[in-house]
Amino acid sequence: MRIRRCGVVYLEPRESVRFDLANLLEGGNGVVRDMGWIALAPHTGREHSLDPKECKLFGQLSPQKWVELETFPDESQLALARLVHAGLVVADDPAHAYYLRQDDALRSAHWHPLSALVHGLTRWSETDSVAAMRKGGTETAAELRAQLGPPPPERIAHEMAGESISLPRSNHVDFDRLLRRRTTCRNFDLNRTVPLELTAQLLERVFSAHASVRVTEDTVFLKKSSPSGGGLHPVEAYLLIRDVAGVQPGLYHYDPVAHALRHLPDPVVPLQELMLRAVAAQDWFADAHVMVVMAPRYARNFWKYRQHPKAYRAVLLEAGHLSQTLYLSATEAGLAAYVTCAINETWLDEAFGLDSMNEGALAVCGFGWRAPAMETMELDPLGEVWKS
Ligand SMILES: Cc1cc2nc3c(=O)[nH]c(=O)nc-3n(C[C@H](O)[C@H](O)[C@H](O)COP(=O)(O)O)c2cc1C
Repeated sequence: MRIRRCGVVYLEPRESVRFDLANLLEGGNGVVRDMGWIALAPHTGREHSLDPKECKLFGQLSPQKWVELETFPDESQLALARLVHAGLVVADDPAHAYYLRQDDALRSAHWHPLSALVHGLTRWSETDSVAAMRKGGTETAAELRAQLGPPPPERIAHEMAGESISLPRSNHVDFDRLLRRRTTCRNFDLNRTVPLELTAQLLERVFSAHASVRVTEDTVFLKKSSPSGGGLHPVEAYLLIRDVAGVQPGLYHYDPVAHALRHLPDPVVPLQELMLRAVAAQDWFADAHVMVVMAPRYARNFWKYRQHPKAYRAVLLEAGHLSQTLYLSATEAGLAAYVTCAINETWLDEAFGLDSMNEGALAVCGFGWRAPAMETMELDPLGEVWKS
């Protein structure tokens, strides 16, 4: 069997602290500090602890050059087999095809290694962010203040600044009023269906292509309502449709050129359960009539910006633009919207058949009718949305 080191891996010397009764009984303070090496490899999606011998062995392997496992001494072969099992060392053996494929996907997508690390190791699969907030006593602003002390101030007075120039206030037009009405929705109306026309209008405004520019037969650029790094528009829209008139609830992909919904196979869990898991148990978001999963095709952006230190940042910013366009489009149409990145990506990627290193869930937006009564807090200090 031939082996080589995976393409991207970082080693962290990590201290862990634990309580030890024996230490306490021997007169210590009961706190024991252990030092260990943690291997962080994005294509494996998790952390691995290594012993010093494994670290040394690992450091001898090339990420490019294949070597025969059998050329190592027996003892090293055992350690290497463990590294192969963890995916840190990849092997050209069918039994270990999964990590070889993941490693190949990462290499061929041209990720910057540090971006790949953040992307691969900050994914969630079973997070319940609501339970975590409850446990931490940080559900409300008052609780946050009590737990964490004061935040950095809401605005700064620059010490180096000279005289300040007061700026004229503009006369508000419809666009200003629209901006003021944009408020994150955490209360959706479960008794009302969103018409297909409104759903189509929103998707058209936010995600559709207004034009295509064909450079060669196989190289096409799209024009859309939001800006995009390199004009590559890598962010795909995958939909979980709960309640839109005439549309069977389920999973869909939006085709930005045909302006069409493509029905995808049903998820393995009931749709509403997937929607709740998707937003890390935030039930106020799970009730949206439509959820839009923004899933960048990283390789499309990285085709131009290869191993580029800013490429991942550009893709994240782009998702932000799309989210704001969705908020404003929904608000203008009398609907309400939200965005969140507190998501269990693993569930979404699995449901839509996405491979996280090439195309994976990055953030979730939702839209629909706002409920007549506010049960979960929304930030509307001027009563723009919730008239008292
Ligand atoms: C990137 C991003 C992530 C967010 N994630 C959450 C979230 O997980 N849960 C939530 O209730 N609100 C989330 N929000 C909404 C913010 O809480 C909200 O924008 C903020 O409270 C200000 O309220 P406003 O949008 O109504 O002005 C998120 C907003 C952004 C931009």
